[in-house]
Amino acid sequence: MVNSYKVAPDIEVLTSNFPIPGYGLVPINAFVIKGSEPILVDTGAVLDRERFMPALRSVIDPADLRWIWLTHTDFDHTGSLHQLLAENPQLRVITTFLGMGIMSLAAPLPLDRIRLVNPGQTITVGNRTLTAVKPPAFDNPCTTGFYDEKSGVFFSSDCFGALLQAVPQSAADLSDTDLLDGQVLWATVDSPWLHTVNRDAFARQLDGIRKMAPKMVLSSHLPAAPGHMTERLLASLAAAPTAQPFVGPDQAALEQMLAGMTGASR
Ligand SMILES: [Fe+2]
Ligand SMILES: [Fe+2]
Repeated sequence: MVNSYKVAPDIEVLTSNFPIPGYGLVPINAFVIKGSEPILVDTGAVLDRERFMPALRSVIDPADLRWIWLTHTDFDHTGSLHQLLAENPQLRVITTFLGMGIMSLAAPLPLDRIRLVNPGQTITVGNRTLTAVKPPAFDNPCTTGFYDEKSGVFFSSDCFGALLQAVPQSAADLSDTDLLDGQVLWATVDSPWLHTVNRDAFARQLDGIRKMAPKMVLSSHLPAAPGHMTERLLASLAAAPTAQPFVGPDQAALEQMLAGMTGASR
């Protein structure tokens, strides 16, 4: 199921929940930014392809889109990318050289429809100015989020994601514990390198987001978070480097799980 909800007059969220047995739900979000040159930020999960397109059509005619901002090339972000490019010849993809390169290993992007933007660089898209930002936590080296000057929204890609037991439409509806625990677990799963990072350097990265003072933080894997939550989001992330490192279930646990499933189906 892919649902949609509006978080600003001109910004819609397209979302589905991906269950991870034993851990909870990961929201998977893409975003539509309306304006003189509408932008789709990421394109849903490969698994959700059939369900993503009707949800997208419910908020905008895909023929009206002019840009896809591909925050990175993971399977939960590239689902409908090629279908959209095939359907709409006016669509162009904003990515990095590395993003373009990674896509070329599986499903190359048409080179004449790519716009390369590096972190720190700015692109004008119709009536919007977007500044590319490397978020403080990420799971793919081509990751590029961005700050939209018009709305004051920071699109942070996988950064600030959380594993949750239930997914509200606003992160403000999560308890302090659910937000902190969910974010820290996600950060240890998605960015395990945080445990080895230089703490001062990481604090400076977090400070960069603090200085941005976004009016809203939109993560690919967290419900929409109003700007007043930024300090809490940063505090959760600051706790990740010293948190318990994530170790996934091992073969014995998998066999136990499979035996349980077989038993349940008898
Ligand atoms: Fe990712
Ligand atoms: Fe992701």
